[in-house]
Amino acid sequence: MSKKILFSALTSLMLCICSVSPVSALETETQAQTEPVQEAQAQPEAMTAQEQQLQNGTIGIISAMDNEISLLLENIDNVQEEQFAGRTYYSGELCGHHVVIVKAGIGKVRAATGAAALLDHYDLSGVIFTGIAGGTGDETQVLDVVIATDLVQHDYGQITDDGYEWTGRNNDVGGYYYCDPILVQQAYESAKNVVGEEHTFMGTIATGDQFVASESYVNQLQKKFGALACEMEGASVASVCEEYDKPYVVIRTMSDKADGKAILTYLFMRDDAADHSCKIVMDMLTGLKDPEEGSKR
Ligand code: ADE
Repeated sequence: MSKKILFSALTSLMLCICSVSPVSALETETQAQTEPVQEAQAQPEAMTAQEQQLQNGTIGIISAMDNEISLLLENIDNVQEEQFAGRTYYSGELCGHHVVIVKAGIGKVRAATGAAALLDHYDLSGVIFTGIAGGTGDETQVLDVVIATDLVQHDYGQITDDGYEWTGRNNDVGGYYYCDPILVQQAYESAKNVVGEEHTFMGTIATGDQFVASESYVNQLQKKFGALACEMEGASVASVCEEYDKPYVVIRTMSDKADGKAILTYLFMRDDAADHSCKIVMDMLTGLKDPEEGSKR
């Protein structure tokens, strides 16, 4: 072998060794270590099983009155109607979600039986109650929105010669029903999108079988329960959802202030208020389906 050939063979060998020198090997190793870390940082947080169910499953939507679902029924696609338990159930696609919508009726009994029939018949991943209410918080004005974090039956108790005394439901959680935190958060974000943050509230809603049109009773609802709104169905639907182990939330837009002028204000404002809640439901469905899209709005 000539010296020239030997030299060129040695040079090639050196080049080869250099290309896997400790420094470059370390660099490669460091890259190998950092790349997956960067990738992990870029990954969105994994969805929980419940978030996935809410994203892909069927959502039940309940109201008390026709005007509280009319905007939803104008927007539902591929609708199919079923009649049972004295009600019409509309299933179809709304804002990318499969939904079943029912007007259950006014008051705790009709709301509860409507919710039970809905949950018996359909396999739902969650329940949204949509509708209107009387504002009982100092700050909750007509057309403001209250997303229930919890609900209470304000007319559940005992009557003695000393008068009516609220006892709450007979269990150990103090008479309150707690809405699902994921649905509450999504409803809150959607309400802000639809009516603005200054008109959106989260808190306790008081339910009873009475239309409240009394300032003194509003004061009691505030003092006893810290209620921001009163209505006639929410807590009973909550109670049924708990029995069926389904997540739920209640969305209410104020049609009145539950005061001495409430009946008149209610008559003027109920349709606009009902539409607000429907718009929030639609925004919510979009957000649940596509959290990325939801966060952009
Ligand atoms: N729904 C709307 N307004 C209401 C009120 N003042 N009392 C009970 N339910 C209502």
